[in-house]
Amino acid sequence: MKNQRNQLLLLLLPFLTSILFIQTQLTSAVDFIFNGFDSSNISLYGNSTIESRILTLTNDSTFSIGRALYPSRIRTKEPNSSFVLPFSTSFIFAMAPYEGRLPGHGLVFLFVPHEGIQGASSAQNLGLFNFTNMNPSSHIFGVEFDVFENEEFRDINDNHVGIDVNSLISLSSYEAGYWGNDNSFERVRLNNGRNYQVWIDYDNSIVNVTMAPVGIERPSRPLLSVSLNLSEVFEDEMYVGFTASTGALVQSHKILGWSFSNTNFSISEGLITTGLPSFELPGTPIYRTRGFIAGMVVGGLSLVIICSVIAFLFIRRNRRIRKEREGMEDWELEYWPHRLNYQEIDLATKNFSEENVIGIGGNGKVYKGVFPGGLEVAVKRISHQSSEGVREFLAEISSLGRLKHRNLVGLRGWCKKEKGSLILVYDYMENGSLDKRIFESDDESKFLNFEERIKVLKQVASGVLYLHEEWEAKVLHRDIKSSNVLLDKEMNARLSDFGLARMHDHDKVAGTTQVVGTIGYIAPEIVASGRASTKTDVFGYGVLVLEVICGRRPNEEGKPPLVDWLWELLRKGELISAVDERLISRENLDVEEVDRVLNLGLLCAHPDPNARPTMRQVVKLFDGKVEVDETEGDDMDVYLLEKMKNREFWAMYPQIYNSGSDSHPSFEDIRKGLSTSMPLSWSNSVLEGR
Ligand SMILES: *[C@@H]1O[C@H](CO)[C@@H](O)[C@H](O)[C@H]1NC(C)=O
Ligand SMILES: *[C@@H]1O[C@H](CO)[C@@H](O)[C@H](O)[C@H]1NC(C)=O
Ligand SMILES: *[C@@H]1O[C@H](CO)[C@@H](O)[C@H](O)[C@H]1NC(C)=O
Ligand SMILES: *[C@@H]1O[C@H](CO)[C@@H](O)[C@H](O)[C@H]1NC(C)=O
Ligand SMILES: *[C@@H]1O[C@H](CO)[C@@H](O)[C@H](O)[C@H]1NC(C)=O
Ligand SMILES: *[C@@H]1O[C@H](CO)[C@@H](O)[C@H](O)[C@H]1NC(C)=O
Ligand SMILES: *[C@@H]1O[C@H](CO)[C@@H](O)[C@H](O)[C@H]1NC(C)=O
Ligand SMILES: *[C@@H]1O[C@H](CO)[C@@H](O)[C@H](O)[C@H]1NC(C)=O
Repeated sequence: MKNQRNQLLLLLLPFLTSILFIQTQLTSAVDFIFNGFDSSNISLYGNSTIESRILTLTNDSTFSIGRALYPSRIRTKEPNSSFVLPFSTSFIFAMAPYEGRLPGHGLVFLFVPHEGIQGASSAQNLGLFNFTNMNPSSHIFGVEFDVFENEEFRDINDNHVGIDVNSLISLSSYEAGYWGNDNSFERVRLNNGRNYQVWIDYDNSIVNVTMAPVGIERPSRPLLSVSLNLSEVFEDEMYVGFTASTGALVQSHKILGWSFSNTNFSISEGLITTGLPSFELPGTPIYRTRGFIAGMVVGGLSLVIICSVIAFLFIRRNRRIRKEREGMEDWELEYWPHRLNYQEIDLATKNFSEENVIGIGGNGKVYKGVFPGGLEVAVKRISHQSSEGVREFLAEISSLGRLKHRNLVGLRGWCKKEKGSLILVYDYMENGSLDKRIFESDDESKFLNFEERIKVLKQVASGVLYLHEEWEAKVLHRDIKSSNVLLDKEMNARLSDFGLARMHDHDKVAGTTQVVGTIGYIAPEIVASGRASTKTDVFGYGVLVLEVICGRRPNEEGKPPLVDWLWELLRKGELISAVDERLISRENLDVEEVDRVLNLGLLCAHPDPNARPTMRQVVKLFDGKVEVDETEGDDMDVYLLEKMKNREFWAMYPQIYNSGSDSHPSFEDIRKGLSTSMPLSWSNSVLEGR
């Protein structure tokens, strides 16, 4: 096929007078063979190094990423065409485990549009992706050699080779190994320190991946042979190279040689495969000798049985002990979130009995459960979800595995009973949900005073900030509201149900724009675009602030929506009258402070997403205490708030602001203005102007 093309080209060449065309043909050719590396041959990122001509992507540093790319972009498509240039590449790798340490996570041969690590995450993300960029806009093609089984990425086992396109969920994968000439499959262990050679060929929309231990002739049958058109995946020019990562589990990922060409499919023959160093742990070879195996089989069979029985009992006992323990071991986090046993949850909730129901949400019922040993949990049973939705949710919470924050409700584990039904086990929150305290408490002892409400709002803000900025990937809550704020034993606010709303996304009929979230807390731009962002979370947070201070639900029958109502009051200069009456009757409120908090709530719930502050600004504002000294007028956040109350602020909306009138525009006016020709950048100009 390739020859045919070349011949065709030769035939056509005399007729093509375009020198440019010839030139691009020439510059698109890339050939290289690295028999050992030199720092001038390759660009290193993250923790990759070159040690004695061996490219070492990671060593025993935990949670690290090493990436190495050919220093310049290579052409992967003919200019201005969808034709993807064929390529043939081969490399020799070793994954060396460390004595006495659990090994992980794997390496990837990849094509990426950018140099650098680009915010990729370590551990199961293989230094290839982070949580937010597994989508077609990332233009990433990879061949993964993965030694950890991640359920969220539907990994087939803990020793596989997979083809990844814009996602860690492989298009196709197979257990690591090779096909012998007699068509028998030989398994290999990727991370036993042995040197393996890999061949990856792409032509005519077929990717072939073949591997074998170094020294064994190239198998004629590929391990993976997949039909794949890379035209949409590749940009015209791409970087090519390797990436690898460690988590709590570590191993050294090494590349010993690499060849690449898009003209010469025999280029790999130039790789030197003899005299390479070995990274097998001392002592391993004995396990491979025939004598040892025979000895094991004959003499050790009974031993194996005894061992398994002991191990079984040991594991059962350990599990019990672990569950009773409060904290978690470091290594356990890697397996997070725990997949729990259905029978145990069933027992803990007395067969999901009605008397154990502690809440009913849009997602399903919540039960109280008590595990043997006294650990109290809240068990949420969600039924009839599409399996796609469940999978995506698990992917999200799984990468939130190590996500722990004092203002988030801890997720202890999950269990999937039958297809489409999911059970989530959370820490039990003794003091119930915030909405009950604000809206349904006739009980005097449960009443939250102003100070307590401010504390709750502050804590929720730091929980949301953690999700948005302080975790390694940006996480959207998507459904911030008072019923998702729970109070623990010490009356600390904790946000629950993060990410859950995402699951509903998939239950909706495809093609209809369905809004995820709860009416009254949904930012106007979501209604239009259906897209959530940190700014839409800020909107939800703003509504939460307002409902907590006003003691009024965002949507009450027969009344205008809370935000619109407050906007109207702001217009009339009567905002303060909205404050919860029960607060007024009980304490001497600092009117200025109440006014500022309400302004903050309205600023967060501003119809223009660009006008909303970030959670970081909100937290800063709370940290500086809301009663900021007016003399510190140069604090940016104070400035924003002051600006908010200033008429100049409204003048930024000339289309809807009638300069002759004394009043602010209504929420609805701004919303309408936004959907037409509103300049959205006032907040930027305010910030930059300083
Ligand atoms: C790698 O760099 C070294 C030192 O600059 C150079 O001698 C060698 O030719 C380069 N190898 C390749 C394949 O470009
Ligand atoms: C592992 O790599 C890190 C980062 O490159 C380096 O600081 C550390 O010294 C290395 N450790 C060993 C044992 O080589
Ligand atoms: C490199 O390793 C160090 C530990 O040696 C770790 O703190 C750092 O995050 C790693 N960097 C990358 C980019 O993985
Ligand atoms: C490719 O398209 C761009 C813009 O359409 C044009 O400027 C460029 O000359 C084209 N290149 C070739 C090789 O045709
Ligand atoms: C891939 O493998 C198949 C089966 O061995 C073979 O027919 C095909 O030519 C190969 N394609 C490439 C691009 O190597
Ligand atoms: C690959 O896809 C592109 C556009 O999506 C198309 O133009 C091209 O013909 C496809 N190539 C093959 C070999 O199917
Ligand atoms: C292809 O690469 C091999 C190995 O480096 C080399 O021996 C051979 O001459 C090359 N063929 C062509 C046409 O360049
Ligand atoms: C995720 O990766 C993308 C690019 O690949 C990057 O722009 C983004 O900042 C990363 N996100 C995080 C939270 O690191």
